[in-house]
Amino acid sequence: MSETEFEVDGSFRFQGRTFEEYRRLFDLDPSSLSGPVLDCPGGPSSFTAVARSIGVEAYAVDPQYARSVTAMAADCEAAVDDTEDQLREKRDRFVWDHYEDVDTRCRYLRAAGERFLADYADHPSRYVAAALPDLPFENSAFDRVLSAHLLFLFDDRLDLAFHLAAMAELARVASEEVRVFPLASLDMTRSEFVAPVVEALRERGHTVEFREVPYEFLPDVTEMLVVSV
Ligand SMILES: C[S@@+](CC[C@H](N)C(=O)[O-])C[C@H]1O[C@@H](n2cnc3c(N)ncnc32)[C@H](O)[C@@H]1O
Repeated sequence: MSETEFEVDGSFRFQGRTFEEYRRLFDLDPSSLSGPVLDCPGGPSSFTAVARSIGVEAYAVDPQYARSVTAMAADCEAAVDDTEDQLREKRDRFVWDHYEDVDTRCRYLRAAGERFLADYADHPSRYVAAALPDLPFENSAFDRVLSAHLLFLFDDRLDLAFHLAAMAELARVASEEVRVFPLASLDMTRSEFVAPVVEALRERGHTVEFREVPYEFLPDVTEMLVVSV
């Protein structure tokens, strides 16, 4: 399997984005974040740490939180090194309006990982080791649920049944809204699972909307799904 920005040797890469990138890729107004928010998958993103620092009760879920801090730190560093090599090799495949260059993109990744690791060490209870499609939370436990760079992206190894179950689970634990980005799979076209997932959500009574976001790194991949619960 070829490597991409998001994976290494076919596995999910343990790399995460900053709060600032989340703000753009989910088109979030930080002042609108009040009640509990869930980031799933969190990976080594700094979203939860920074959201907490501005008073938002944020939590993150990722199966890799079951591992030691040392192992996560090593993976995080290795992931950025791998990404850096790939970005230098495949620079022309990405849109650089936001990051400008490979060094800046990698600085963001390192900053996110360092902030995550420090926050994880100080506040491990904010980080829950679990995996979709089974989350250990009550119904409607979070106002907002954010899900980036897992669903729809890896539809070569996560099948339709997984996507249907995972989206139903994210909607179950949200009381207001679920946002998902991106909607394109690794070939950069819209995932074939978007339509059946949206149909299933609408059948369950949810309002589903496609919304443009002010973030583009993969060419023309600028849409998120907003599910009102
Ligand atoms: C590319 S990272 C995305 C991290 C973060 N959301 C971001 O956009 O920066 C993908 C993450 O999905 C996690 N993951 C893989 N399978 C999962 C599952 N079934 N449930 C939740 N997270 C999963 C991986 O461990 C990895 O940390």
